[in-house]
Amino acid sequence: MNAPLIVGIGGTTRPGSSGETALRVALAHAERAGARTRLFGGADLAALPHYAPEHPERHAVQTELVEAVRAADGVLIATPSYHGGMSGLVKNALDLLEDLRGDARPYLDGRAVGVIVLAGGWQGAGVTLSALRDIVHALRGWPTPLGVTLNTAASRPFTPDGECADDTTRSQLHTLTDQVLAFARMARTPAVTGA
Ligand SMILES: Cc1cc2nc3c(=O)[nH]c(=O)nc-3n(C[C@H](O)[C@H](O)[C@H](O)COP(=O)(O)O)c2cc1C
Repeated sequence: MNAPLIVGIGGTTRPGSSGETALRVALAHAERAGARTRLFGGADLAALPHYAPEHPERHAVQTELVEAVRAADGVLIATPSYHGGMSGLVKNALDLLEDLRGDARPYLDGRAVGVIVLAGGWQGAGVTLSALRDIVHALRGWPTPLGVTLNTAASRPFTPDGECADDTTRSQLHTLTDQVLAFARMARTPAVTGA
């Protein structure tokens, strides 16, 4: 239980979506580096009811997601760029984090958040990355220095069996994960106080 917990949220309703595959690659790297991981992929996100603040009762998947993020030491979010912004599916999951508002660590407070954007062009990739980082700031999280953008129209980032198709994609996803983990380990280190 001492190992840091990294939670991945993202993907689309399409089985084997690039976003979910990117998260699987990143979380596998985190596990090799000694972390525990939990993935909420496209099917999990599609099972979430629309977030409705006036309805406090929670579906089992909603509770699982909220509890996982509450316990998380770091978070990875992957979204496609849809019409120049993040998808409604992923945003619906982030809206649910309102349930963490009253926590000692509200929302994503004290946690690094690695952002991955899949897009059909560089313009959509860039604006969506930037908008998602703004959302992470609003949730009091710490976006990592690196944000990963993958242009799925330029080349396929993954092979059909879920491996990275090239070294650049692999290296970017690993670096992003390393940054989330480094922050998580730093945040767990007791502060050294002057005598
Ligand atoms: C409804 C819809 C809207 C999209 N809008 C954009 C867009 O504005 N900019 C862009 O670069 N790509 C856009 N795309 C392309 C997707 O971002 C791209 O195909 C991405 O790889 C999808 O994610 P996936 O591979 O994980 O399924 C759009 C795709 C769909 C289905």
